[in-house]
Amino acid sequence: MNETKKIPVILDGDPGHDDAIAWVLANASPALDIRAVTSVCGNQIIEKTTYNAMRIMTLIGLHVPMAKGVDNPLIANPIIAPVVHGKSGLDGPALPEPDFEMSPLSAVELMAKVISESDEPVTLIPTGPLTNVAGLLLAHPELKEKIARISIMGGGIQMGNWTPAAEFNILVDPQSAKLVFQSGIPIIMAGLDVTEKALVCPADFDRIRAVGNKVAVTVADWLEFFYQFHKTMDYPGAPIHDAVAVAALVKPEILTMREMYVDVETCGDYCMGCTVGDWFGTTGHAPNATVLLDIDREAFVDLLVEAVKTYGEGN
Ligand code: RIB
Ligand code: CA
Repeated sequence: MNETKKIPVILDGDPGHDDAIAWVLANASPALDIRAVTSVCGNQIIEKTTYNAMRIMTLIGLHVPMAKGVDNPLIANPIIAPVVHGKSGLDGPALPEPDFEMSPLSAVELMAKVISESDEPVTLIPTGPLTNVAGLLLAHPELKEKIARISIMGGGIQMGNWTPAAEFNILVDPQSAKLVFQSGIPIIMAGLDVTEKALVCPADFDRIRAVGNKVAVTVADWLEFFYQFHKTMDYPGAPIHDAVAVAALVKPEILTMREMYVDVETCGDYCMGCTVGDWFGTTGHAPNATVLLDIDREAFVDLLVEAVKTYGEGN
């Protein structure tokens, strides 16, 4: 039987509770072949996002090469988000200590190695600022043709979250984001337009916890912690932003999308980091992004429940 071909991917993130849940989903999916993981500064400083990445990989049994990103965004000063993810960047449940050594390569060099050695083009799934991806494109422009697509969590055509105009991942490193959107590589953009609808609610936390294995219980604990911030803003659930960038690859049928030209504002007092979407084609530029706009929330939650079930029997 001709098994569906797996998509070779690299996970790049700033864990971060929703990055962690996105990686649980990616690692559980038969559609993806995770070739490497790289950390980026974003939700917390690079040391913390790197440590978190290694602990998540240990928890989920993801043993692939892992490398650390750079200390700062390309040009902008770092912004971190302890109010959302806590001092560690992944507050909440205790996690195992890393059971493997990090690669001696930089994140950019590990990405380049994996892509150049791959028999087929590789998909990148960045769920934090785009510093590493931009660094890869600047250092290795010859590898662009071996990058199949970039499925990002970032931006928002209709709104921002860290400023009225800008979403956090893009705002942290707008110059890198602009470089990525202008690269000519197909982009899938899971921006706030869709991720603010990717809500996992307390009743769903219980469904996930009831699965009973270690990963399921940890995901439920991550959800409880992550929801604390959103509850203060009257959200009915926690928006699991980053997992939508994975869902776009493993279950695109639960999403509504629109091809659009998107560019990134890299100046201005009010609009720095804004992802400007050309809804009506007024710029004359051909679309460079598949912008995700809506999601079947129930199906999204079911996807997460099925994913945690793959991590073994409960207690
Ligand atoms: O704006 C949401 C994004 O910022 C998510 O990727 C979250 O992890 C933070 O990085
Ligand atoms: Ca993230």
